[in-house]
Amino acid sequence: MADIDPQIDRSDRCPGITYTDMLAVDTRPAPDYLVMESTQELGDEPLDPDRYTSPAFKALEDEKMWPNVWQFAAREEDMPDPGDTVVYELGDKSFLLVRQQDGSVRAFYNVCLHRGRKLRLEGGRAINLRCPFHGFTWNNDGSLKEIPCSWDFKHLEDKDLSLPELKVESWQGFILITENHDLPSFREWIGPGVEHYDNWRLDECSTGAWVAKVVPANWKAVSEAFMEAWHSIVTHPQILPFTADANTRYDLYGDHMNRAITPNGTLSPHLKGKDQMYVINKLAEFLGAGDGRGRRNAAEPTDLKGFDPEDPLLARKVLAQANREGFAAMNGHDYSQASDSEMLDNLTYNIFPNWSPWGGFVPNIVYRWRPWKDADHCLMEVRILMRAQKGEKPARGPEMFMIPDGEPFAYAGHLIGAALAGVFDQDMENLPHVQAGMKASKNKRLELGHYQETRIRQFHRTMDKYISGELPKTA
Ligand code: FES
Ligand SMILES: [Fe+2]
Repeated sequence: MADIDPQIDRSDRCPGITYTDMLAVDTRPAPDYLVMESTQELGDEPLDPDRYTSPAFKALEDEKMWPNVWQFAAREEDMPDPGDTVVYELGDKSFLLVRQQDGSVRAFYNVCLHRGRKLRLEGGRAINLRCPFHGFTWNNDGSLKEIPCSWDFKHLEDKDLSLPELKVESWQGFILITENHDLPSFREWIGPGVEHYDNWRLDECSTGAWVAKVVPANWKAVSEAFMEAWHSIVTHPQILPFTADANTRYDLYGDHMNRAITPNGTLSPHLKGKDQMYVINKLAEFLGAGDGRGRRNAAEPTDLKGFDPEDPLLARKVLAQANREGFAAMNGHDYSQASDSEMLDNLTYNIFPNWSPWGGFVPNIVYRWRPWKDADHCLMEVRILMRAQKGEKPARGPEMFMIPDGEPFAYAGHLIGAALAGVFDQDMENLPHVQAGMKASKNKRLELGHYQETRIRQFHRTMDKYISGELPKTA
């Protein structure tokens, strides 16, 4: 990785303190993987909106990209026991994941080898895989078990009728699949940056809430609304008192990973003349309205004892400590050595092409965006991962809660918290109009900020590498 440069030119950053500067005065030494910046110079060319709207571009994605990447198909806790299944679908593709007797997971094309009916329409326990049309049946390991009226299929006796399989791996509790058997391992495919998760142990977490909503916008447009924080000034003004939106650090790693780190418990540089108690009180107000399964803790006046009241970053330190103590009480883990950033900030990582497992030690959000029906729709999923009690295995997770068409994320406020749902609904207010506006564009140019929208540019560069055939690199 030639991208890390400690002498990074910051001329394109928000004036004033940066996230890196904040780390230097936090209460614990921050780990190198947070301190080190990782940028790539990707130029300033505009994007063509047809990438989001044209069926022809979608067809290129379907042909060149999706079969050649690792995809997040399920969490381990979605299917903990032998015989548990998950149906994972993306566009026209349908895959069937089955937990084996030995605890491993196999993934098959979810298609009967007789006349092509989907074998299962949803997950659940399976004794075997029996097609509901004529009863062709496979064992859970994909080997053929039975053909009814087998006297009529003598021509298949010498044929291999095992279900075609995908390559499967598990990482941090995520079950990953790829159609391309020649891809290198997931860690190798990601490359630099994947090791950041080693401390966070998301495999010790379980899905606490899982909601999904069909959004009338292209999956890339929706995912990119979560790749930069700077729309907060207009779209989410209520979080500016405790979210340093414009101080967000954007880092790029290789082709398949990037991150935004948005400092929390810190006043937005857009707000002037507010003190640190304003930050603490405004966060408490927001949390009072429901911030998603207790993802953060508010601070009480007594929590300020032992801190310097004149510290310009007082709230950040107090709130990181409130999280250390709050989450230790919740799940029995020891966070005493964890950095302020990993206890507080939005460590919004994205893994190419379509998912975002946040980092750090607090209950973490995981987004996934799937193409849905056509180029103009996608399914946006939000999970919140909760760390299991110390010494205990992660519990079986809940089913996905599908928000009915036309209903907002607030419809699932009882699962993810009303305040967090409100933030998503603000994003959803923009997205249908982004999709419609891109179709109405006269100049056919989408412009990107040089720094704050660099993750979007990297995403498209990687997409182009798949479409041109430069990627994937095979093992
Ligand atoms: S299509 Fe499956 S048994 Fe006939
Ligand atoms: Fe947003």
